[in-house]
Amino acid sequence: MECTREVTEDIYWVGGNDRRLGLFENIHPVPDGVSYNSYLISDEKTCLMDTCDWAVGQRFIENVEAALNGRKLDVLVVDHMEPDHAATLNEILLRWPDVEIYCTMMASRMYGQYGYKGLENLHTVCEGDTLSLGRHELVFYLAPMVHWPEVMVSFDKTTGILFSADAFGTFGALNGALFADEMEIDDEWFAEARRYYGNICGKYGMQVQNLLAKASKMEGLSMICPLHGPVWRKDLDKFIEKYDKWSKYEPEEKGVLICYASMYGHTENCAEVLASELIQAGVTNVKLCDVSGTHVSYLISDVFKYSNIALFSVTYNMGVFPKMKDFIHDMQALNLQNRTITILENGTWAPQSKDLMTSMLEEMQGMSVMEEKITVMSNASDDQREAICKMAEDIKATLE
Ligand SMILES: Cc1cc2nc3c(=O)[nH]c(=O)nc-3n(C[C@H](O)[C@H](O)[C@H](O)COP(=O)(O)O)c2cc1C
Ligand SMILES: [Fe+2]
Ligand SMILES: [Fe+2]
Repeated sequence: MECTREVTEDIYWVGGNDRRLGLFENIHPVPDGVSYNSYLISDEKTCLMDTCDWAVGQRFIENVEAALNGRKLDVLVVDHMEPDHAATLNEILLRWPDVEIYCTMMASRMYGQYGYKGLENLHTVCEGDTLSLGRHELVFYLAPMVHWPEVMVSFDKTTGILFSADAFGTFGALNGALFADEMEIDDEWFAEARRYYGNICGKYGMQVQNLLAKASKMEGLSMICPLHGPVWRKDLDKFIEKYDKWSKYEPEEKGVLICYASMYGHTENCAEVLASELIQAGVTNVKLCDVSGTHVSYLISDVFKYSNIALFSVTYNMGVFPKMKDFIHDMQALNLQNRTITILENGTWAPQSKDLMTSMLEEMQGMSVMEEKITVMSNASDDQREAICKMAEDIKATLE
C-alpha cells in the first residue's frame, strides 16, 4: 500500500526507505538504513522530482500512483543521474511513456549509457532556465560535482522549496517522520549527516561552496528537500551553517581525535595515556578510536569535526599499518585540510611509520604536523611517557 507524506498542500514525498542495505555505494555501512526521496508536485501539470533506487521500486511506484490520484504524469525532473535515484526511471516511462523529462546537458549524455528510454522526450536545461507547471515555477541551477558532474538543483519560486539533490542529504531511514523538526536533531544525528557529507561530498568543498552561494541568493528559500534524509522547513540555517563549515574544511569543534593502530596494545596504551593526560589538563573534548575496529567512514566523519588529530601507528612490514594508511589515504582523497596533527610511531626493530605518515600529510593542504613526534620501541619507557605528557600540553596550547 502507499506510504506518502504531504510536504505542502500540493507536494508529496513519494520515496522509500531501505533498512536492508548493508553498505551504501557498497562501501559505507548504513546501520540505520537510508531513504531515497522523490517528490511529486500536483499542479496543472504533474511533476515528479527524481525517481528512486531499485531497492524501493515497488513502494515508490505505489506512492507515485497514489499521489497522482488517477492523473497522468506530465513531467519528470532528473536532478541527479546516479542509480540510487535514477534506477527506476524506465519503470516510470513504462507507465507514463509521454512524460517530458528535464535534465542537464551532462545528464543527457549519461542518460543513454544507463539504457534509459524516452530519449525523444528529453529536454536539456541550462543555468537559470525555468519551467512553469501552472502555479509552481521551477528554476534550475547547475551544481556540478556535488558530487557528480551532471547534478542540478531545482528551486520552486512559488513556494521557496529547494530540491537540493544529494546536497543536504544524510544517512538513516525516515521512520515515520519526514521533517527534521519531527525528529531529534542531536549530536548523533549530525554525526551521521557529517558522515554522509564527508564521505560523499567531502572532496568537493569548493563546488559545495558554489552551491551555497547560489542558495543564498534564492529569494524566499523556505524549505530544503534533499534526495536522502529529512526535509528541512525550520531552522534551515542550522544545517546550512554546518555545510558551510564542512565545505570550507573548517573544524566544527576544538577538540582532539586520537586514532591509533596497534597490534599488541602498546601503541594503544600510548593513545590512552595521551587521552588521559589531555582530559586531566582540562581538554575534555577528546575522542579515542581504534582504526582497526572503526569503519573508516566514521573516522572521516570525525576528522571533519575535530580541530586536532593524533595519529599513533605501529610499523608493519616496513610501512604504516594498512588500516592507518588507508585512513590517511581517505583523508587525502577527500581533500581534508586545515588540521593540526600529532604523530607517534611504534616499531620493534625498525620504526618507519612516523616519516611515512608525515610525508602523506605534507601532501595535503593546510595540515600542520606538530614538530615533536614520538618514537616508541615496543613498550613505552618512562621517558616516553613524559614525552606523551608534554605532547598533551603542546596540543592543549594549540587549542587556546
Ligand atoms: C606482521 C608484522 C610486521 C611488523 N613489521 C615491523 C616493521 O617493519 N618494523 C618494526 O619496527 N616493527 C614491526 N613490527 C612490530 C610492530 O610494530 C609491533 O607490533 C609494535 O612495535 C608493538 O606495538 P603494538 O603493541 O602497538 O602492536 C611488525 C609486527 C608484525 C606483527
Ligand atoms: Fe549521488
Ligand atoms: Fe544519492
